[in-house]
Amino acid sequence: MDYFEIEGKNKLFGDIDISGAKNAVLPLMAAAILNDRALTITNVPKLSDSITMGNLIKGMGGEVNFDHSSIIIDPKKLNIPYAPYKLVKTMRASFYVLGPLVARFGEAKVSLPGGCAWGPRPVDFHLEGLKKLGIDISLEAGYVIAKSKKIVGNKIVFPKISVGATGNVLMAAVLAEGDTEIHNAAAEPEIQQLCLLLNQMGAKISGIGTNILKIQGVENLGGVDSIKVIPDRIEAGTFLIAVAATGGRVRLNNVEPKHMESVTSLLKQSNIDIEIEKDSILVTSTGSDMKACNMETNEYPGFPTDLQAQWMLLMSLSIGDSTIKENIYFDRFTHILELNRLGCDVRLHKDHAVIKGDRSLIGADVMSTDIRASAALIIAALCAEGLTSISRVYHIDRGYDRIEEKLVKVGAKITRKK
Ligand code: UD1
Repeated sequence: MDYFEIEGKNKLFGDIDISGAKNAVLPLMAAAILNDRALTITNVPKLSDSITMGNLIKGMGGEVNFDHSSIIIDPKKLNIPYAPYKLVKTMRASFYVLGPLVARFGEAKVSLPGGCAWGPRPVDFHLEGLKKLGIDISLEAGYVIAKSKKIVGNKIVFPKISVGATGNVLMAAVLAEGDTEIHNAAAEPEIQQLCLLLNQMGAKISGIGTNILKIQGVENLGGVDSIKVIPDRIEAGTFLIAVAATGGRVRLNNVEPKHMESVTSLLKQSNIDIEIEKDSILVTSTGSDMKACNMETNEYPGFPTDLQAQWMLLMSLSIGDSTIKENIYFDRFTHILELNRLGCDVRLHKDHAVIKGDRSLIGADVMSTDIRASAALIIAALCAEGLTSISRVYHIDRGYDRIEEKLVKVGAKITRKK
């Protein structure tokens, strides 16, 4: 199993090119199976999750070809509406195929994803939403069996905003008879891009980027030649926090600053110099005079939960104490123990974490627990005295496109070892 060896205490200088967004490419790939036309997706990040989604589509009979940073998906021969446990358990986003499969074939058998490292992550909103569209849902031996003679539009009110449930239900609703309204819909840029692709295919979705989506069902969807994945705001946010913490001056290229306002504004409050350009962000930090700021995660446009662990690390190095309230996943705190092993002092209270600032970190052996927690450990290791070894980096390979190459290019000392 690969691990990283990281020597800390180097400031970062230079340019980093941001890749396409993991959380955008996965639903776009799922949407590609809604009809029988080939779709080319460009600016695809090199991640094990994109490969897993490709394997899932191939297993169903579709053709998937990776070509540098593009994927060509030809779903013409796709005829097995089945997503097996062995793939879904490694990547929850595989569940995105449920809506498109039942919309195209009138039936689907998709494994339930199960829990994840930071606790249960149910799919009840997905299933209740699909049922509202007239789809018959039953559970059998760990699988969701979905059947429908006719999908019928309806009003769906999610109890809480869910990115995955919005995408899944939306992909079924576009082919429904009649109109659908999704209330408490996700407004995340990745869902906005999914809506734009579906509209280019002939769907009629309005309210994009708001929490109410209105969908006029259509009989068929046509083809679109290609779509370019939006920049990964979580990857960009991770590098902004890395430079803030280590100190240095780095320009992030190929970003969409508009998608990152919650992150850049909090970094500015924390004394980090941020210069926003058209599609790049220049970050400058001394690495020593960051100011502690309280933070709460929230749905877009709030501060993303996927940057919570990285922010916790930054606050551990800042002047003063601070708190983090996690409003999306109450249990998403498994990284605290590993960060504390490196010298952080974070304590978990009922619904928030209290972070002591001004910590000095010392390298140690630590273990990745999930994609974003691993990123926080890498940044911590870059700021720690001496050597840190991070095991289970397969977590990070799921969601970051060659992270060690990008960091080494700006001066980090990271070696991947077997
Ligand atoms: C997506 C992202 C993930 C991010 C998360 C929140 C992808 C591939 N993954 O995950 O990186 O951390 O959004 O921004 O895009 N919930 C239920 N029942 C459901 C569905 C969700 O209770 O059926 C709850 C969840 O437990 C959580 C909240 O709703 O508390 C939001 O989860 P959701 O937005 O669905 O996350 P994902 O789509 O799985």
